[in-house]
Amino acid sequence: MHILLTGGAGFIGSNFVKMVLAARPNVRITNLDVLTYSGNLENLSDVQNHPRYRFVKGDILDTATVAPLMEEADCVVHMAAESHVDRSIMDSGPFIRTNVVGTQVLLDCWRRSRGGERVSKQAGRFVYVSTDEVYGSLPLGRPELLFTEQTPLKGNSPYSASKLGGDVLASAYHHTFGMDICITRCSNNHGPYQFPEKVIPLFVTNLIENKQVPLYGDGQNVRDWLHVDDHCEAILTVLEKGRSGEAYNIGGNNEKSNLELTHAILWLMGKGPEMIKPVADRPGHDRRYAIDASKIKAELGWEPTRSAWPKALESTVRWYVDNQAWWRNVKSGAYRAYYEKQYGNRG
Ligand code: NAD
Ligand code: TYD
Repeated sequence: MHILLTGGAGFIGSNFVKMVLAARPNVRITNLDVLTYSGNLENLSDVQNHPRYRFVKGDILDTATVAPLMEEADCVVHMAAESHVDRSIMDSGPFIRTNVVGTQVLLDCWRRSRGGERVSKQAGRFVYVSTDEVYGSLPLGRPELLFTEQTPLKGNSPYSASKLGGDVLASAYHHTFGMDICITRCSNNHGPYQFPEKVIPLFVTNLIENKQVPLYGDGQNVRDWLHVDDHCEAILTVLEKGRSGEAYNIGGNNEKSNLELTHAILWLMGKGPEMIKPVADRPGHDRRYAIDASKIKAELGWEPTRSAWPKALESTVRWYVDNQAWWRNVKSGAYRAYYEKQYGNRG
């Protein structure tokens, strides 16, 4: 099998490439990535010369690049995206272009490469890697409420609205053209190679640099944390065994408030609460995400095996402590200008 993967030089994509090459001896991967600020070929240095792996630098919006790659592929795993909520609040344009229009370009190219108007189910699967953020926000104090695949979709940030655009387009192409499409909706990931604008690597690397950690608002917002390897296994499971046209939630029942998460990181790093800097809240900040993943567990037999708290967090924190060259490189240059703009006047 030959997978065309989009966005494979980012956090989840690079972990997915390595996991699939190791776990599936008959699978080849072509990684199409334009290398935005969050795409980094250093994430893939271990496999750059692997005989079953190929990197192509290109934009998912560019039909001339995408179409020939699709002719060679048996299936598509589409995870290229603009992925950071705070950046989408600064400027939503790149989010709409890549996450909505880019998804439309890929879906149309895939449809044409599989024969056009009405596509046979055997023509090859397209997996759209969506997010739990397309379900909007849950209230605090109602632990019985979880996102299921039936929860109505609602995009509260420009990021989640753009992912929702791609998500409903993927469903529409299944419905209209009969294409073999599955959608995954996963909760917040953590693990190696996550760009240090996201909360866990940002906080760990700030603490190593002896900087405070900027905690938004009252710190009571809740996220449901999953180790990236569990997410990657779930995506592979859906690619291989998912039912066509279905969406699958992915999560590890690991709900933590940001304050709990921050204290856990401080404790692991041997730092005190004086390192917390309360800052102005993110506009429109979703209160709580919590995933009911019973469908993928019951139908496809997937279970998270690496996300148990606090061991999973500990291993992620350890990775950033042990791999300082990686993130110090990333945190220099253009990243500094972003950090100054995002956090400079928030105190
Ligand atoms: P990331 O920002 O680390 O990686 C995104 C990758 O996409 C980068 O390598 C970037 O260069 C590439 N890319 C962006 N625009 C492109 C374009 N126009 N053409 C080609 N490549 C392009 O993001 P991530 O955290 O690895 O997330 C991957 C996917 O998983 C995204 O679709 C995201 O919405 C989804 N997701 C992420 C999480 C999470 O917690 N990180 C949770 C659920 C779902
Ligand atoms: P983030 O990693 O940006 O993921 P998402 O917004 O997609 O869930 O943020 C996770 C949580 O951490 C979110 O509730 C916002 C909060 N947060 C902070 O408190 N401070 C920060 O500097 C960042 C980046 C996030």
